[in-house]
Amino acid sequence: EVWNPAGKHRVVSTKSMPGTRWIRLLTDADCRLEICTEKKTILDVEDIQALIGDKCDGVIGQLTEDWGETLFSTLKRAGGTAFSNMAVGYNNVDLNAANTYGIAVGNTPGVLTETTAELAVALTVSASRRVVEADQFMRAGLYDGWLPHLFVGNLLKGQTVGIIGAGRIGSAYARMMVEGFKMNLIYYDLYQSTRLEKYMTAYGEFLKSQGEAPVTWKRASTAEDVLRDADVISLHPILDKTTYHLINKDRLSIMKKEAVLVNASRGPVIDEAALVNHLKANPMFRVGLDVFEDEPYMKPGLAEQKNAVVVPHIASASKWTREGMATLAALNVLGKVKGYPVWPDANK
Ligand code: DGY
Repeated sequence: EVWNPAGKHRVVSTKSMPGTRWIRLLTDADCRLEICTEKKTILDVEDIQALIGDKCDGVIGQLTEDWGETLFSTLKRAGGTAFSNMAVGYNNVDLNAANTYGIAVGNTPGVLTETTAELAVALTVSASRRVVEADQFMRAGLYDGWLPHLFVGNLLKGQTVGIIGAGRIGSAYARMMVEGFKMNLIYYDLYQSTRLEKYMTAYGEFLKSQGEAPVTWKRASTAEDVLRDADVISLHPILDKTTYHLINKDRLSIMKKEAVLVNASRGPVIDEAALVNHLKANPMFRVGLDVFEDEPYMKPGLAEQKNAVVVPHIASASKWTREGMATLAALNVLGKVKGYPVWPDANK
């Protein structure tokens, strides 16, 4: 699909994206925009090389693509200067290779913070209260009357929520759980972000001023402390060498037998094969997963586990957010192609 065919700057988007604002931004700024209409969901490196062709100023790409040496050198040869990942995460992008070829890299933070945190909350509640299991039971025509034991799950109020990775999304999730469900908080963050500390201090003051019962909170010095103490654990770190298989067999074994584990970050943060074994051995342990180690596949055995709620990487999938991501992705490329400062620039 080609927009503004006579445009001076050739910009390629490897996928169609929601909304039209991003298209207008590019075409109004004298870009010829080519949107790939290939049916295949995940494009491989050769597909993208063909899209880049001989002349290309910038590319908007997706988290499912492998942006490394090959693609950045191809883009450089085509005269390109900008690549924007339509995602906040950029573990699919080799920043060193981008730097080597002088390609600026942008991502799309900010607009997906609450949307992603909300989905993590939805997974938490669904897993804790067995919502999906109960839905399937109902649809199967198995409900024949109220029973005291039917789908008994865990109450969130007054329990402890644990966060690993307290950046923008982790902090938003923590606020939703603490305020919404009056949960106590324990969190671990590699980066010395103080946003959650400030928030919890202010929230504590607020509860006091209202004469309401306090919630407790603690910044843990290890991930293990969170795993041991929390009733609900939500994972929000970036994926890199230090967080690959952060949740493994040993760490699963220190968690409470009835804990709820939620992951809306990146699949490989959990050793999924170890998780499947743990779910089988501990029927009261529950998970809510938006992401998978070998996406789009699930490890054998996971789909059969009733104590797992699984959704297909939809944490940022609200209309407002996806349109915002598309707009930011276009702005990143546009800024570089037109010589404006690129924001945000993951190269820095
Ligand atoms: C991201 O942005 O990194 C999400 O995984 C998709 O929105």
